[in-house]
Amino acid sequence: MQDIRVSFQQLFNSSASLVVQSPGRINLIGEHTDYNNGFVLPAAIDKCVQVAIAKRTDGSIHMHAIDLQESVIVPADAIQPHATSWVNYIIGVVAQVQKYSATAPNNSVPLDLDKGFNICLQGDIPIGAGLSSSAAVECAVIFALNEMYQLGLSTMQMALMTQQSEHVFAGVKCGIMDMFASLHGKSNQVMLLDCANLHHTYYPLDLEDYQIVLFDTQIKHALASSEYNTRRLECEQGVEILQKKYPAIKTLRDASKQQVEQCLAPNNNNAKNAISNKVYQRCKYVVDEIERVQLAVKDLLAGDIKSFGQKMYETHEGLSKLYEVSCPELDILVNAVKDNPHVLGARMMGGGFGGCTINIIKKSEVEAIIHTLADVYAQQTTHILKVHQVKIAQGTHIK
Ligand code: GLA
Repeated sequence: MQDIRVSFQQLFNSSASLVVQSPGRINLIGEHTDYNNGFVLPAAIDKCVQVAIAKRTDGSIHMHAIDLQESVIVPADAIQPHATSWVNYIIGVVAQVQKYSATAPNNSVPLDLDKGFNICLQGDIPIGAGLSSSAAVECAVIFALNEMYQLGLSTMQMALMTQQSEHVFAGVKCGIMDMFASLHGKSNQVMLLDCANLHHTYYPLDLEDYQIVLFDTQIKHALASSEYNTRRLECEQGVEILQKKYPAIKTLRDASKQQVEQCLAPNNNNAKNAISNKVYQRCKYVVDEIERVQLAVKDLLAGDIKSFGQKMYETHEGLSKLYEVSCPELDILVNAVKDNPHVLGARMMGGGFGGCTINIIKKSEVEAIIHTLADVYAQQTTHILKVHQVKIAQGTHIK
């Protein structure tokens, strides 16, 4: 990437007061569990978004996306969702900060945010690949605003506020994983995050002779965000049914496999139509996956990467057959490595309907497997396979 301070100077004819860098993320295991109060095992990566920022005095927010060569200006005192998606990742965060400052006790938040600012951004996180480029933008922006206006927000508050921003301005009812991982990442460490209480533990990731490789389908099916919100609703419907018999169940985290079978399985006469069969499948997947993450972490601690990888395959099976968020392209990539003894685990990663698979591959075999997979993908789809070899890196920070 070019020096963003130079770009800022050229664009706005003044110096940036601050540059913030925020990473994308991978997730080893624990998919679609975050909004069900379950566990996830993400890590920040060495692909990132950078923002450069400085205050203005005229009440307008001037934004420029360097990679897209697009500029947008909006008034700081009338923030509304915008037709251009990257703009929403900035102003959605501004709206959250404004809301926060309006409700902060005794006007304790000094804010001249309404006077506006200049901001430009650039990045190398592939967009639509399921590596959370949007969360990285939101986290970079809130980190920069926090610093520039001395808001005193903790990184935990920032994660929650950027999640709200995504809900309101991007319309995706996402969980907390992406923002959390971008803000809290540490080099060479994965994070086990308990989404019920945001407790988190870092573990070094030692894969010995193996490495993580991402295979990018290079597609994002249009229904990704609407289906994402539908899955969330289906899980909530399941909880409502479970609650009738077990009032203590507040989220799928509280439900056991037995309770799901008893209350939701169609063969128990509980669910008589196709819709509730879906609800059963969704809830079964989530409850299985929450348990699987906890077992997978034990594998990791015991150094049993093989068993860990096996669980990644199980996750993919659940996401594809029960949760139904995979797609033919992702399934082709997982099926093509499933029986390869040098690939310990593979699964779709992130929200689904496109993006990447995450694979644990023997280092000495990576090049050969990339070649084979590129051929398979070219033969079976109309797309070209892209490969990302990422390192686990530090979370959001000032550059
Ligand atoms: C997207 C969401 C996350 C999470 C994953 C699926 O990345 O933003 O909150 O739900 O999908 O695990």
